[in-house]
Amino acid sequence: MLKNNLIVENYTLKHHNTFGLDAQCGLFAQISSVEGARAVIKRYNPLKLPIHILGSGSNILFSKDFYGALIIKNYIRKIEIIRRDAETVWVLVGGGVLWHDLVLWTLNRGLSGLENLSLIPGTVGAAPIQNIGAYGVELADLLLNVEALHLETLDIHHFTKNDCAFGYRESVFKSKLKGQYLITKVMLQLSRNREVNIEYGDIRNTLANMNIDSNHITPTDVSNAVCNIRKAKLPDPAMIGNAGSFFKNPVILNQKWESLQNDFPEMPHYAVGTLEAKIPAAWLIEQCGWKGKRVGNTGCHARQPLVIVNYGGATGLEIMTHAENVQRSVRDKFGIELMQEVNVW
Ligand code: EPU
Repeated sequence: MLKNNLIVENYTLKHHNTFGLDAQCGLFAQISSVEGARAVIKRYNPLKLPIHILGSGSNILFSKDFYGALIIKNYIRKIEIIRRDAETVWVLVGGGVLWHDLVLWTLNRGLSGLENLSLIPGTVGAAPIQNIGAYGVELADLLLNVEALHLETLDIHHFTKNDCAFGYRESVFKSKLKGQYLITKVMLQLSRNREVNIEYGDIRNTLANMNIDSNHITPTDVSNAVCNIRKAKLPDPAMIGNAGSFFKNPVILNQKWESLQNDFPEMPHYAVGTLEAKIPAAWLIEQCGWKGKRVGNTGCHARQPLVIVNYGGATGLEIMTHAENVQRSVRDKFGIELMQEVNVW
């Protein structure tokens, strides 16, 4: 483990990305405070090399080495309750806190809101970039504001939820302001006794299988159910390299869905507003024969084909090529374009 605010040269990022890719970087620093980040950038980046911010590297594909770059790993790890009233608790969380550690921290204090987002890999600072979501809840439902350090001016800026321009796995930090900020803190608004949300997917069945009394379901029960579902479906990056869903679920116009229905009547879909439909990318990929198919050191996972895995020794380029082949076959068969969910560096 490196000391905070220290910098190393010519360092491998292998242990800093869940694909386990052996990319090299010229300069690597770990920071645990805003002051630490400012000091590192001022001292070590006078030439204004590109700066990349890493959380736990769980949604990133390294397609190259980064010799002419400064990589900063965010270790800002404080969690504080800022305010509370009878119903609501406002929690301010450092960007370097691991997301699931935060979920457990809130559940241990009787706070609800994050239980459906249990076991999502990654850090709190990465959560707003991606607008992480699972089982019918997304970060945008709970976030109040974001504090971030501008990497050029080194000023702190505050973003309201509105400023973040959240969408499905989207935010202003992934589009207009991409690469410009280090997210230092996130303010969340949690509840003392919010009703649990168990409508999505297998949560209700899983709770029943766990013999939980349906009249007394606690947020911790929901969290345990979500953990069980995720563990059963999604490969553990500690065992087999991956970055969760590689693609987003595509959203298409109803008109297009209706025409596809003629050829593929069993195609699942979920309404998005009144004009569009979301199609599960996993289904499209499975129909193209990729489910569980291995190609060299990579492939689509056997239980959840939306997850592309590194069986060991894959390069970023090999994974990208596989992803492009999957995209091409979905395009050829369905005329639907799969968009990456993972960030490619
Ligand atoms: N499906 C198949 N074949 C499969 C698996 C799934 O056809 O092998 C179809 C089924 O129709 C199923 C549907 O896909 O009903 C949806 O599957 P699932 O509930 O597993 O969710 P997903 O849409 O594939 C999304 C998120 C996940 C999140 C889950 C649960 C995206 C891109 N992915 O996956 O998030 O955990 O919902 O809410 O939105 C991530 O972002 O990295 C991630 C894992």
